Amino acid sequence: MEPNFQALRKEFPVLGRKTYLNSGSYCALANDVKAAFEAYMEDRLMVGANWDAWIAKNESVRSLTATLLHAVPDEIAVTASVSAGLNSLASALNFSGRRNKVVVSDFEFPTNAQIWHAQEPRGARIVHVPCAADGYIPLENFAKAIDEQTQLVAITHVCFRNGAKLDIPGIVRLARAKGAKVLLDCYQAVGSIDIDVKTLDVDFAAGGMLKYLLGTAGIGFLYVRDSFIQSLVPTNSGWFAQADIAAMDITANRPAPNARRFEAGTPAVVNCYAAEAGLKFLLAVGTPAIEKRNYALTRRCMQRLEEIGWPSITPTQDERRGATVAVPSRDCGKLSAELMKRDIVTSHRDGNVRASFHFYNDEDDAESFIAAMKDLRGSFSPR
Ligand SMILES: Cc1ncc(COP(=O)(O)O)c(C=O)c1O
Repeated sequence: MEPNFQALRKEFPVLGRKTYLNSGSYCALANDVKAAFEAYMEDRLMVGANWDAWIAKNESVRSLTATLLHAVPDEIAVTASVSAGLNSLASALNFSGRRNKVVVSDFEFPTNAQIWHAQEPRGARIVHVPCAADGYIPLENFAKAIDEQTQLVAITHVCFRNGAKLDIPGIVRLARAKGAKVLLDCYQAVGSIDIDVKTLDVDFAAGGMLKYLLGTAGIGFLYVRDSFIQSLVPTNSGWFAQADIAAMDITANRPAPNARRFEAGTPAVVNCYAAEAGLKFLLAVGTPAIEKRNYALTRRCMQRLEEIGWPSITPTQDERRGATVAVPSRDCGKLSAELMKRDIVTSHRDGNVRASFHFYNDEDDAESFIAAMKDLRGSFSPR
């Protein structure tokens, strides 16, 4: 049975005040997540330091993330950010041999290119896969870049700038054929579409809790395929990455046998409370239903943009799109500010206003956005 999306809207008080189309930047706050923050405060007031319960929260985030990705908890590191997870992973890779190439796409969020460029002094060669004239990156461009010297293909699932979704199964096939591993930066996808890391057959996946996962900033995850964990020893480490956290052994580095070896220091306790509540909420709604709704909402929004003569640059095919509709503007910063004056919350990147949809949005939200855009077209559409 389809979730009652209209009833679920009531769980996000901001929706009563704003047309909230900003989940690709930061989600709307759910009552449950607010209550989780308050529960942490209560814990601090009533118990002081409740470490056993706090560690259990961190483990709960690990196991809910595993459920979400169709992985097992031992394959999940709970990290402070995507960047922290990628740095830890990079530190475990060796670029001194012939297989020293990292292939990234021109759709990457800066962190997923900068961190690989930061490995250049260690021998890594970074190759960028360019967009075609239509603004998409076709498989043939990846085929030209991925070869026997490629160690890692590090790609975004959905592009933060234009909402385009890459052909991950196709890219994984190309990587496999040349013996390369695949890292998926799924931050702009996870929670908005259904993701099964086993079906996608990626080796690593990174994301965080503040966007479509309904949580907060300062907490993320790194998925590492079980069969690689033992052979990867991060040099970015810390006491929470050790096999026995309580050992307090200062004579050696003894990494955990599971993906916890990609963690570092004390978990962000309050963020664990929020992330746990967000993940529980999202899993109860169900990602297949969320995906279906997000495709319907973005499709509708794009059709209406066409009708008002201000088309988006996001691909129209469902299989090439995430939950963001990107609309080009001659001044996207000012346009986003004008929309905000009308209580429509969007974000902007790289010449585009981004309207990001989630299950708590509805067709009226899309219509409010369209009405405002129609009004503002004369001043802000591309010349
Ligand atoms: C696709 C993508 N990757 C990575 C990041 C950065 O993640 P973090 O700040 O957790 O390192 C973002 C942030 O917006 C993102 O959209």
